[in-house]
Amino acid sequence: MQKSAASKETQWWEKGVIYQIYPRSFSDSNADGIGDLEGVIRKLDYLNDGSEQSLGIDAIWLNPIFPSPMADFGYDISDYCNIHPFFGDLDVFGRLVAAAHQRNIRVILDFVPNHTSDLHAWFVESRSGRKNPKRDWYIWRDAKSDGSLPNNWGSAFGGPAWEWDAVSAQYYLHTFLKEQPDLNWRNPQVKKAMLDVLRFWLERGVDGFRMDVVGMILKDPELRDNPELKNDLDPASPDGPYYRQLHVHDQDLEEVHELIRDFRILLDEYPERCGIGEVWYELPRWIKYYGSRGDELHLPFNFRLMKAPWNARAIRESVDEMERTLPDFAWPNYVLNNHDSPRLVSRVGDEQARVAAMLLLTLRGTPTLYCGEELGMENGVISQDQMQDPQGFRLGAQYNRDLSRTPMQWTDGPNAGFSSGQPWLPVTPSYQIKNVATEDRDPTSMLNLYRSLIRLRKQRTALQSGSYTSVAVESSDCFVFERSQNGEQYLIALNFSYKHQTLKIPGLMEGKLLLSTYLDNFEVFGKNTLDLRANEGVIIEIKHNYVTRQDG
Ligand code: GLC
Ligand code: CA
Repeated sequence: MQKSAASKETQWWEKGVIYQIYPRSFSDSNADGIGDLEGVIRKLDYLNDGSEQSLGIDAIWLNPIFPSPMADFGYDISDYCNIHPFFGDLDVFGRLVAAAHQRNIRVILDFVPNHTSDLHAWFVESRSGRKNPKRDWYIWRDAKSDGSLPNNWGSAFGGPAWEWDAVSAQYYLHTFLKEQPDLNWRNPQVKKAMLDVLRFWLERGVDGFRMDVVGMILKDPELRDNPELKNDLDPASPDGPYYRQLHVHDQDLEEVHELIRDFRILLDEYPERCGIGEVWYELPRWIKYYGSRGDELHLPFNFRLMKAPWNARAIRESVDEMERTLPDFAWPNYVLNNHDSPRLVSRVGDEQARVAAMLLLTLRGTPTLYCGEELGMENGVISQDQMQDPQGFRLGAQYNRDLSRTPMQWTDGPNAGFSSGQPWLPVTPSYQIKNVATEDRDPTSMLNLYRSLIRLRKQRTALQSGSYTSVAVESSDCFVFERSQNGEQYLIALNFSYKHQTLKIPGLMEGKLLLSTYLDNFEVFGKNTLDLRANEGVIIEIKHNYVTRQDG
C-alpha cells in the first residue's frame, strides 16, 4: 500500500510537531503552586530557540486558560474571552503569542463548545427563570409526568446527565459535571456568540483551536432515549448509564458536520489557521470529521495508538488501516499521550517508550507530544487525599487523570524546578532521574532521543511529507515501513520485543544508519539482513532501492 503526499503545499500543521502544554503543571512563575503563562514564556526557548539543542517543536496547544471555577480544571469556562488570573491576563497572553511567534512556534487554544461553567453569566441568567431570554441557550426539560428524568442519558462522569433546578422547577442537561451545563447549539444566538469567541482569539493572533468533544455539541431535538448496550458491554468500562448505552441520540449526529463546516469557514477567513478536534469514534464515523470534501477539521485527533495493545502487529494494523482509509485530502495524525490518559511509558516501560517515540516521529502524519513525554515522565503517585480530578472521584481511582497531570520535571531540585511554592499536585517520584537538566547532560537520554528525532524529521522532508509503505517482514515482533519522496528513501524498523531480531531485507547493505533509539552507532547491517537489538528502533537512509519490497 502506498499513499503519496498531497500535491498542494504542505501546511505547518502537517509538517510540524505539536506540543501539548497542560498550563497548570508546566511552569509556575509566582510560587502559588500553579503553572501560568509567564512560566510558559520562560520555557519557550526550551521548546524551540531555533538551535539544534532545543526540542524543536512547531506549535503549542494550551489546555484551557480561561476564567473558570475549576470544577473540571478549566473545562468549565465562565468567560470565554479572558484569562484566568491564575494563568495571567490578556496582556501576558499577548506577550506569549508574540514571543512564541518570534520563535516560529504557533499557538493553539482549547475551544470548549459543548458546555460552559454553571457560573458563566449565560447560565446564571438562563437558570434565573423560564421566561429569561437566555433560557433556551441551554437544554432545559420538564420532568416526565411521573416526576422522573426527561430521558435515559448519562453523564460521562457517572450518574444521569440531568440535574434538577429547584428554583425554575426543570432539569438541565450536563454531559459532564453538573457544573458543566450543555449549551443548546440549535439556538442561533448561541452559535453566533460562540463563533464570536473564535473570532476574538483569531484576532489576537491565535493559530488554531483544539475543539473539545466537538462531536457532542448537537443533541437529538426530541431527546429520545439511547438504546441500552447489552452483550457488548465492556467489563473494563466505568459504571453509570453513559457507559451502558449506544450514543445514538446524544452525540455524533449528522447535523454536527454542518456546524463544524461553519467553524472551518470562519478559520479559513484567516490565513493558515488550523482546526483540530477531540473525536473518539470508530474509524468510519471518525473520518467524517475531516468533512466529505476536506471542509471540516484539519486534524481530528487520532487516539488509536494510545488505545491499541502494544505489539508490532496491532500497531502496524492500526497505521495501515489509517493509511488505507484516509481520502487523499485528509492528513493523518498520531497521539500517544494526553491529559486525559495514563502515561504511555507506565504502560509499555522505558525501553519500549523509546520505540514509541521513533514510531510517532517517523510516521506519515502530524505528531502531538504531551508535555513530559519527551522526558519519559511516568504516571504520578497520588494518594486519596491528594486526588484532585473530578473524574477520579466519581468513576474511581483507576480513572484518575491526575496521574498524567503532575508537574513538569525541569530539575532534580525541590519540586522538580516546577515551582518554589507547594505544587497543586505532587511531583512524580522518578523526577530525580527524569528531568530536563539531568537528561540534557546525558547524551543517550529520552530527551536527547526526542530532540534527535525531531531534528531528523525536520531535515529530511521525506520523513515529514513522504509516502508511507508498510514492509512485510517475517518477525511478528517488528514493524518495518518506508517513507519516501523525490528520490529520498528511509526505512524505519522497530523492534517491539525484548529479544534481538535479525530481519531479512535484501539489498539493505546499501543503506546508511541515521539513528538508533540507543543513540549510538552500533553496526546493524549484515549481508541482506538487519539486526535489531532488544527494544531497538532504527532509521536507515536507503541509497538504492533494495530488491524485494513487499506491501503489507
Ligand atoms: C474533554 C477534555 C477533558 C474534559 C472533558 C469535558 O474530554 O479533554 O479533560 O474533562 O472534555 O470538557
Ligand atoms: Ca503561578
